[in-house]
Amino acid sequence: MTIAVIGSNMVDLISYVHRMPAEGETVEAPEFRMGCGGKGANQAVAASRLGSEVVMVSRVGNDVFAETTLKNFEDNGISTTHVLRTEATSGVAPIFVDPDSHNSIIIVKGANALLTPQDVEAAREDIARCRLIVLQLEIPLETVYAAIDLGRELGIPVLLNPAPASPELDLARIAGVEFLVPNESELELLTGMPVSSLEDITRATDVLLSAGITNVIVTLGSRGALWAHADGQEFVDAPAVQAIDTTGAGDAFIGCFSNAWVRSGDVLEAIRAGSAYASDSVTRPGTQTSYAWAADLPARRDAASA
Ligand code: RIB
Ligand code: NA
Repeated sequence: MTIAVIGSNMVDLISYVHRMPAEGETVEAPEFRMGCGGKGANQAVAASRLGSEVVMVSRVGNDVFAETTLKNFEDNGISTTHVLRTEATSGVAPIFVDPDSHNSIIIVKGANALLTPQDVEAAREDIARCRLIVLQLEIPLETVYAAIDLGRELGIPVLLNPAPASPELDLARIAGVEFLVPNESELELLTGMPVSSLEDITRATDVLLSAGITNVIVTLGSRGALWAHADGQEFVDAPAVQAIDTTGAGDAFIGCFSNAWVRSGDVLEAIRAGSAYASDSVTRPGTQTSYAWAADLPARRDAASA
C-alpha cells in the first residue's frame, strides 16, 4: 500500500440548474447526473487512477448507494477491506451546479458520521504499510484525531484537508501534520484571520506553521496554490482552462498531489501536478467522472497545448 485514505464516501446527485429555487418555488433543471463522490473517496480515486496503491478506511450504509460505492472502489482498484457496512443510510450529496459552474452542496453524512477511532485501529496493519495518511473532515473529529495520532505513532506523514470547514477543529490536536491543505475560506475559519490578499494569506499560514504544521498548501482555485513552509513560500499558478464544473476540483488536487509526493518526495513538483490535474478536471462535468486516468494525461496535455 502507498496511501491510506481515512474518510468519507458519498453518492453525488448533481442537478445542473439555470438558477436555484426561492423558498416555496419549484424550478425545472435541464440535466441530472449521479456519480460517486465524498471527499475521501474522491481523493482516493484520483490517487489510485494515477497509479498509487490505495487503502480506504470508510463506512457505507445498508442501501443501494452502498453497492454503487463498493463497486466504484473496486472498479478504481482501491482496497475495500476496511470499508465497513453500517446500519444507516449511505452518505449522499445533492449538488446544484449553475451556468457559471458555481456549485452548492448539501452533504448528508449518514454512515460516514459513524466511522470511529476503533475502525482506524482495526486497519492499523494496512495503514502501517503506507507512506502517507490522507484525511478530511466528513467523518467525526475524534476519528480524524485518532488517525493523526496513529500516524505519529507509526512515523507516517499525514495530510489533512480541513474540509468542509469545521469551527470545532482543534489546532492543538492537528499539530505535527506534514501537510495541511485548506482553501481560502477554510484557512480563514481555522485561523480567524482575514484572507483577502496574498499578504493576509501569508500571515495566516505563518500562524499554522508556528502551531506545528510542517507544510501549509492553500488551494486558490483558478489562481493556483500557495505553499508555505519553514524556509519560505512558493506560489504555483494553475493552467488557464474553460471551467464547466468545479465540483471535486480540490479533491482532484489532493489525490494527485499525494500520488506525486509519495513517488518523488518533491513538494513543489507535486503541487504543480496537482494544479494541472485539478484544472483538467474542471473542464468536464461531475466529480470523479471528471478525473483523468494516468494513461489519459499525455493526450490531454497535447490537446490542451494544441
Ligand atoms: O469535494 C466535493 C465533494 O464534497 C463532493 O463529491 C460531495 O460528495 C462532497 O462530499
Ligand atoms: Na469536474
